[in-house]
Amino acid sequence: MSQVDYEIGKARPDQLPPGVPVITFDPYSDEVMSNPYPYYQELREAGPIVWMQKYGTYAVGSYGSVIRVLTDHESFCSSAGVGLTNFHTETPWRKPSIILEVDPPEHSRTRKVFSRILSPRSLNKLRERFEQEAHAMVSRLVSREVCDGVRDLAEAYPLKVFADAVGLPPDGREHLLPYGDMVFNAFGPQNDRFRECLARLGPSIAWITEVCQRENLSKGSFGAELYAAADAGEITHEEAGMLVRTMLSAGLDTTIFTLGNALVCFARHPHQWAIVRDNPAIARQAIEEVLRYDSTFHSYYRTATRPVTLDGVQLDKNQKILVLIASANRDSSHWSSADTFDVRRKPAANLAFGTGIHGCAGQMIARLEAEIVLKALASQVERLEALGEPELHFNNTVRGYSSLPLRLVAKDRKGK
Ligand code: HEM
Repeated sequence: MSQVDYEIGKARPDQLPPGVPVITFDPYSDEVMSNPYPYYQELREAGPIVWMQKYGTYAVGSYGSVIRVLTDHESFCSSAGVGLTNFHTETPWRKPSIILEVDPPEHSRTRKVFSRILSPRSLNKLRERFEQEAHAMVSRLVSREVCDGVRDLAEAYPLKVFADAVGLPPDGREHLLPYGDMVFNAFGPQNDRFRECLARLGPSIAWITEVCQRENLSKGSFGAELYAAADAGEITHEEAGMLVRTMLSAGLDTTIFTLGNALVCFARHPHQWAIVRDNPAIARQAIEEVLRYDSTFHSYYRTATRPVTLDGVQLDKNQKILVLIASANRDSSHWSSADTFDVRRKPAANLAFGTGIHGCAGQMIARLEAEIVLKALASQVERLEALGEPELHFNNTVRGYSSLPLRLVAKDRKGK
């Protein structure tokens, strides 16, 4: 691995507690991001906690260490930001999220409202509409035979059904993608990727701010329900608007990239697709495996609230720790054949939605969307054939593709 310069480092390796392994690769470089898994293995083999030389942070990548950090929110907080920027000492690019980037008791108040609105009961009401849309979309693509799996399905589906559920107007939704890209890039370093993304944002922030206003949200939508919670005094009206924004930033890119990753996995592993196609009842389990194998929201940070010992290493207050959930999901000391994509694997506690008090508040709707799309594909598609290499989308925090030329072979056309 190449040597790199110090950027943000708080300590030099010679000032570190003895015995802490030093990692010199840059987890945000194109080279690592193209295939991070060998690097994650190197990191796990180096030790349960390592020092990331380029960014002056610790990092954890083994299943056990990741759980230890995420389930101890009193020692490892989110209020200093879940990115590399420390909100206690630096200014964030936008106002922090009032659910993701706060600690209890503030967190409990907003999380309660958010979770109630996305409860299984409200999701049940959406199921039929979500299914109809998935079937119609997949039928159109199957009749075309050739499509871009990412643009025409993985992006198009959540941009339709999820944005409708939040209550957005139909026009202008293309602004959601550059905004989401920015939010997730901002959890990493202020590198060229971050700066170029910020420069591309253009009118997207203004559009998002506008659609989060009450008068622009449709009746009966999640957005409208957030404002109703404000009327009931559970949150303020300003907070309602901020939580609509959180739904849009947290709920789209994540689902889009997960659907795209699923298409890439099944195009590359036709036998695995045959298992789902012949037994669509395992669609949900298959999505868990996609999320374990290629975790979408692959890494984020916590910050030490006090001097604390983690896996034998003494950390100072305010120290950032990179939490690599994508690495934990490939840890061979926890998973058998960790690098094998196998939809028959029992979905035993993969960490793709995080864990602890900040575990994903939208995981049920994300699973619902993905399960419905897989089942719609299973009912109509014999094979998914990649017509070229998928194009990786480089983002500091979410992993996924921007394009996948795909041929969807219809079930009744097999053998053609
Ligand atoms: C497959 C899609 C998704 C993935 C992989 C994913 C992943 C994650 C992860 C790993 C976290 C934990 C962050 C942390 O601990 O700091 C998280 C938190 C969160 N997610 Fe998701 N997410 C997905 C979809 C969604 C959707 C659809 C929504 C909204 C409807 C959503 C809303 C949230 C919120 C609000 C939080 C913060 C929860 C809290 O801090 O209490 N996510 N997500």
